[in-house]
Amino acid sequence: MADALVLGIETSCDETGVALVRVGDEGSELLTDVVASSMDEHARFGGIIPEIASRAHLEAMVPTLGTALERADVDLGQVDAIAVTAGPGLVGPLTVGAAAAKALAVGLGVPLYGVNHVIGHAAVDELVHGRFPDRVMALVVSGGHSSLLLVDDVATDVTELGHTLDDAAGEAFDKVGRLLGLPYPGGPHIDRLAREGDPTAIRFPRGLTAAKDQARHADDFSFSGLKTAVARWVEARQDAGEEIPLNDVAASFAAAVADVLTAKTIAACHRHGVDTLVIGGGFSANSQLRELAAERCAEAGITLRIPPIRYCTDNGAMIAALGAAVLRAGVAPSSLDLPVDSSMPLTQVTV
Ligand code: KG4
Ligand code: ZN
Repeated sequence: MADALVLGIETSCDETGVALVRVGDEGSELLTDVVASSMDEHARFGGIIPEIASRAHLEAMVPTLGTALERADVDLGQVDAIAVTAGPGLVGPLTVGAAAAKALAVGLGVPLYGVNHVIGHAAVDELVHGRFPDRVMALVVSGGHSSLLLVDDVATDVTELGHTLDDAAGEAFDKVGRLLGLPYPGGPHIDRLAREGDPTAIRFPRGLTAAKDQARHADDFSFSGLKTAVARWVEARQDAGEEIPLNDVAASFAAAVADVLTAKTIAACHRHGVDTLVIGGGFSANSQLRELAAERCAEAGITLRIPPIRYCTDNGAMIAALGAAVLRAGVAPSSLDLPVDSSMPLTQVTV
């Protein structure tokens, strides 16, 4: 399957992503990656409105596909396979992408692969840093997910070690952002404020790190207690009529999230004898996480792979990359009536 051309389509949330990837034995090559976002239409609601996102995907799909083909100088007829996000994600948005992918697969007479969005967040790193070694740990952190995956083969063998029991990392940032009066999504704003603050100013709790949690939740995360602790701290100062030191609150909160994510992930690497860690998902843009992960991986002798930020947020390249890996592994195509699955299990790479 080397040299096959894979078209990837992503529509699980608010980004319409279309990308083209050339499958290679050593690693696959990204030809183009085009993203249209409807985030501006959701910002005033303080969250993604699925109906608005679905409509935006419908309007953006054909133009985004056209731009991708034009930029890569490729004709639709040259496409050898279609990969599309089958889940997890929002049902309406997923359905628009799946419908487009099915129509293209039927029209072109090429195989269709419904693939897992969260695993795609890890797979995209293969386009940047080459094929994964036999066993890697993947930490996928976004507005919707915080999951720890043991990846023996990104196309066929993924084990979910743990996940968040409540808020995702990005979600916790967005909620604390709202609490601090920052615009939605608050994540990048907290990151910016935190860079000016003292991360040791306030000692916020580290969820599920106590000795008693290690038996059942060693690889799970929890951020809602932390979020509540920040809210209590801020309220107490407000009630006392004191000014809120935004930079220090942001820095201390961000430090707690980065500490828990990196400590638990590195412990899991040791436990499973894995020496390569891949971090992906929109929240991996977070500078506090990036810095601490780099520092702790270096200390632990773990090779850290994080794709550039534009491949961490939702995009078509991650889906085309996973499609390429699946094609290379000789996995059977999905059925043309593949269902989308809003809560697709993270152990399921393809449908
Ligand atoms: O993967 P993504 O683009 O969309 C989802 O699938 O959720 O992730 C977006 C999430 C949002 O919660 C956003 O606030 C957060 O990632 N985020 C950040 C940063 N950049 C994006 N959080 C903290 N620091 C950042 N620099
Ligand atoms: Zn995502």
